[in-house]
Amino acid sequence: MAEDIIKIYNQLIERSKQIAVINSCAAVLEWDEQTYMPRPAATYRAEQSAFLAGLSHEKATDPAIGERLSALEASPLIDDPVSDTAVNIREIRREYDRETKIPKELVEALSRERTLSQNAWIEARSNSDFPAFEPHLDTLVGLQREIADCLGYEKEPYDALLDNYEPGMTAETVKQIFDAFKDDLVNLVAAIGNSPRKPDTSILQRAYDIERQKVFGQAAAAAIGYDFSAGRLDITEHPFTTGLGPNDVRITTRYDARQFGQALFGTLHEAGHGIYDQNLADGHYGTPRGESVSLGIHESQSRMWENLVGRSRPFWKHFYPRAKQVFPDVLNDVAFEDFYLAINDVRPSFIRVEADEVTYNLHILLRFELELAFMRGDLAVKDIPGAWNENFQKYFGIPVPDDANGCLQDVHWSFGLMGYFPTYTLGNLYAAQFYAQAKAQIRNLEDQFAVGNFSGLKEWLVTNIHSHGKRYHAEDLVKTVTGQPLSHEPAMGYLREKFGELYGL
Ligand code: CO
Repeated sequence: MAEDIIKIYNQLIERSKQIAVINSCAAVLEWDEQTYMPRPAATYRAEQSAFLAGLSHEKATDPAIGERLSALEASPLIDDPVSDTAVNIREIRREYDRETKIPKELVEALSRERTLSQNAWIEARSNSDFPAFEPHLDTLVGLQREIADCLGYEKEPYDALLDNYEPGMTAETVKQIFDAFKDDLVNLVAAIGNSPRKPDTSILQRAYDIERQKVFGQAAAAAIGYDFSAGRLDITEHPFTTGLGPNDVRITTRYDARQFGQALFGTLHEAGHGIYDQNLADGHYGTPRGESVSLGIHESQSRMWENLVGRSRPFWKHFYPRAKQVFPDVLNDVAFEDFYLAINDVRPSFIRVEADEVTYNLHILLRFELELAFMRGDLAVKDIPGAWNENFQKYFGIPVPDDANGCLQDVHWSFGLMGYFPTYTLGNLYAAQFYAQAKAQIRNLEDQFAVGNFSGLKEWLVTNIHSHGKRYHAEDLVKTVTGQPLSHEPAMGYLREKFGELYGL
């Protein structure tokens, strides 16, 4: 191969790594801001962050990158589409196009409108006043349509937005899978609602000492494979996971002395994200080959550990006796079955972030359908509350009391994040499909959980998913790992089996 092609490739990679250095510095500042930074430091911190963002953008939009990519795309380095070189060239091209195709004026207009819209949304939500937010949302929808036009799409603007979070995924595919999922879910939720078995969730709202919660949560995160020697667990308001570089992936949670589950399941969720980041290929750090696939695949890891493992019977066979040791005076009189039922309480509720494993998906399906309709122009922004309330009643069987408990509850739209919501349910679907495959391939997987051994599953995930970085797009990764395209069936099968048994259906 021509020597100059290798040289050009190395220059491309060197630039990618420089950008990663800048972005990881920005991530340290961001982590600090969300955990320990004194509040009055916020103004100067914003300046620091903006400086690094500008520097990163400047490096990422350098025309030299475009020239190098064009040369490399005509070289044998892309012959094998899943080779390290081809993957890096493909993904750096993707990123470069996204950074350069949107005119500066549009980026600035979006940034300005976001700030205004956020403030309007906070006010509108606290007054449950949709009309006060409506003009801002209308502007953001218009801006996102313009952005989609700049980026380009095959079928509809929504595809360009979705592609930002779930590369390669289209609205058509998502709609097809979600539609099939919806009817089954609505029926399952109704059947659970009609079951005479009602969990006593008050046992999870007793006094759970926060210091003891910390001990228990850390032990659980370490048991499933989160490496504390290359990470930390800190406290924040809105929990997140952040990778700051090789050997430094940090997770966060929040504690409530009257909630057993919030911190624990939150910690398992973030540990799931953390385990993914901790097991990306270190040698490829700073290049796409060493990065996670997509938001949906990332979420599949967190939700697998939080729900499929963390809310399972075998997991608690091991951990419930330990929970009783850590909280002896609190859980003494609680039988295993009552505890297990309580952590798997399913009931329709208005707020997405408080929803259980089953109804959660209906919250997402509802949002996806509305987003698709208003991005297409089939639904006027002013008609969102009416459409929301009508569909909510249909899917959940309860009427929405007001917009604060309805279409105003989430921050996403006020930030212009259209196309983001589907990644949550895609995460659940990927998780169930991967998990079914892991169970088929690992002998006695759940018996291992029951004795506190989670390394079989963790290693399977590292081998099949984490170590590949961005080698495959999500759709291909699912096919490669499970032999099947993404479907709602594994998730529905899992939910039916677990909750059918729990609720005696
Ligand atoms: Co998550």
